Amino acid sequence: MVGAFPLTFLLFFAAIILHHQTVALPLSVNSRWIVDDQNGGQRVKLSCINWVSHLDAAVAEGLSKRPVDVISKKILAMGFNCVRLTYPLFLFTNDTLASTTVRQSLQKLGLSASVAGVQVNNPSIVDLSLLNAFVKVVSNLNENNVMVILDNHISKPGWCCNDNDGNGFFGDLYFDPEVWIKGIRRVAAIFKGYRNVVGMSLRNELRGYRQDIQTWYKYMQKCAEGVHSANPDVLVILSGLSYDRDLSFLRDHPVTLSFSKKLVFEVHWYGFSDDDDWIMGNSNQVCGRVIDTMTNKAGFLLDQGYPLFVSEWGVDQRGTNENDNRYLNCFLGWVAENDLDWALWTLVGSYYFREGVVGMEEFYGVLNWNWYEPRNSSFLEKISPLQSPFQAPDDLLGVRQHKIIFHPSTGLCLQGQPLMLGPCSNAEAWDYTAQNTLTVKGTNYCLQANGLHMQVKLGTMCTDESSKWEAISASKMHLSSRTNDGIVVCLDIHSKNNIVTNRCKCLSNGTSCDPASQWFKVINSTSMGVTKPVILSNALFKLSKLIHQWLPRLMV
Ligand SMILES: *[C@@H]1O[C@H](CO)[C@@H](O)[C@H](O)[C@H]1NC(C)=O
Ligand SMILES: *[C@@H]1O[C@H](CO)[C@@H](O)[C@H](O)[C@H]1NC(C)=O
Ligand SMILES: *[C@@H]1O[C@H](CO)[C@@H](O)[C@H](O)[C@H]1NC(C)=O
Ligand SMILES: *[C@@H]1O[C@H](CO)[C@@H](O)[C@H](O)[C@H]1NC(C)=O
Repeated sequence: MVGAFPLTFLLFFAAIILHHQTVALPLSVNSRWIVDDQNGGQRVKLSCINWVSHLDAAVAEGLSKRPVDVISKKILAMGFNCVRLTYPLFLFTNDTLASTTVRQSLQKLGLSASVAGVQVNNPSIVDLSLLNAFVKVVSNLNENNVMVILDNHISKPGWCCNDNDGNGFFGDLYFDPEVWIKGIRRVAAIFKGYRNVVGMSLRNELRGYRQDIQTWYKYMQKCAEGVHSANPDVLVILSGLSYDRDLSFLRDHPVTLSFSKKLVFEVHWYGFSDDDDWIMGNSNQVCGRVIDTMTNKAGFLLDQGYPLFVSEWGVDQRGTNENDNRYLNCFLGWVAENDLDWALWTLVGSYYFREGVVGMEEFYGVLNWNWYEPRNSSFLEKISPLQSPFQAPDDLLGVRQHKIIFHPSTGLCLQGQPLMLGPCSNAEAWDYTAQNTLTVKGTNYCLQANGLHMQVKLGTMCTDESSKWEAISASKMHLSSRTNDGIVVCLDIHSKNNIVTNRCKCLSNGTSCDPASQWFKVINSTSMGVTKPVILSNALFKLSKLIHQWLPRLMV
């Protein structure tokens, strides 16, 4: 018998907990999913932002513009739960560099305005050594419950990457494998005490004429073992060859490690990864082809039971690069469909000094030049559905397998009543049957084409041709049906989030044609309005665990 007060109290906390996905660190791996440490492993989706700290100054960017604590809180406010923090190897292998102060490092590059900025915004950092300043950033992220992936981006501080920069592959001028292994192991040891350091990317974008598969296995495995023995809590993240675009060699030769449940692979995919194919070709064909390539070079790892972390992607957020815009809609569909973990490039609004330019603006950055405001809030809204998991395979709140219908170009999902686009957190749950009908879960209502240029409707004549929907075109992103008078139509949006059927567009040869308004993805989902993950303090976490254990018994 439970008294009224404790029950109210428990229900209050239960309400908090049921509405947030709580994270109990450390993380580990359960097949293709990254999971935490509670109740046998709850899914944690990494939605990270790349925070650059590997350029010439070897200081986390932005500290001249805003206090570190303000930046950390801004990251959370923008919906990210994690930072991929980049660093140059030499920060941990060259004591002269490590002990240089932030002030000295910026001054050496002639960046007196940046020195003044750090002095004002981060007075407690400006005279720290570069190593301690890096630790300070990690520890501020820790205080704010932001997870961190430490990414060894390069050896020698500076912008990355090209084939001949001496940082590309084992044996290059600045890339002695033994120095690297020792350095990475040291990083693992230094950050062992930081709960929020959940993973380490051993090396970014291996590349260049030296790259070679045998050498990859030899050193990646050795370094992975070193990291794991220094810090068995962290996820060990391995990058592929050719600028982290190719992991295909793993298909028949898995890595051999002495430990399990900690291995993750990473891959990169930008619009420019395929040059200007997106504007030179037909969007449907390019999207279909590029996704095939991604699947063959990296996506297959999911089927083999490994998590795949898309650790770099992004676009020019001014919306003026058409190649990027077309790539983005295809990319978002792919990431949503596979419910991948990812890290957006980048947080940075402007750099202290990049490739010889002082104060260079970063149009791929979510913050604006002065690091005050989001560069483009509509971009953030568009990617926000990807910040929550669609699938929680081990959701103990009651799994309900269903589909949702995602529209990448708006970042919205189909809602049932009234039938329109809305936030994916309120997405309607659908069944996609073997007869190709899209039925509102638990009802007799299905999606029906009503006629050319007409709004679609929910009806009960679910055996009609107008209730059958097929994913067509090379991209497989058009949902096509046939009206009762026999016209082939595609789901489309009209004005303010209204869903209509129009003639299918850009199916084959048009290169100037943008099909994005007709691009939808039918996605596996188990989440019923899951909200953003929060990391609970230890005490609150223990309480939540108790409630999870006891609540079901109290309810019966
Ligand atoms: C170590 O860092 C210092 C300061 O950046 C640099 O001058 C020196 O060349 C570095 N030494 C090595 C061996 O890379
Ligand atoms: C934000 O992005 C959208 C879509 O890409 C674009 O149309 C808009 O102009 C951008 N806004 C700003 C302020 O750059
Ligand atoms: C979606 O779920 C179905 C049924 O469980 C499964 O066969 C399919 O592979 C899943 N798709 C993805 C992209 O995970
Ligand atoms: C290809 O483009 C031409 C001209 O734009 C158009 O007339 C033709 O119908 C298109 N072919 C197909 C198969 O879409």
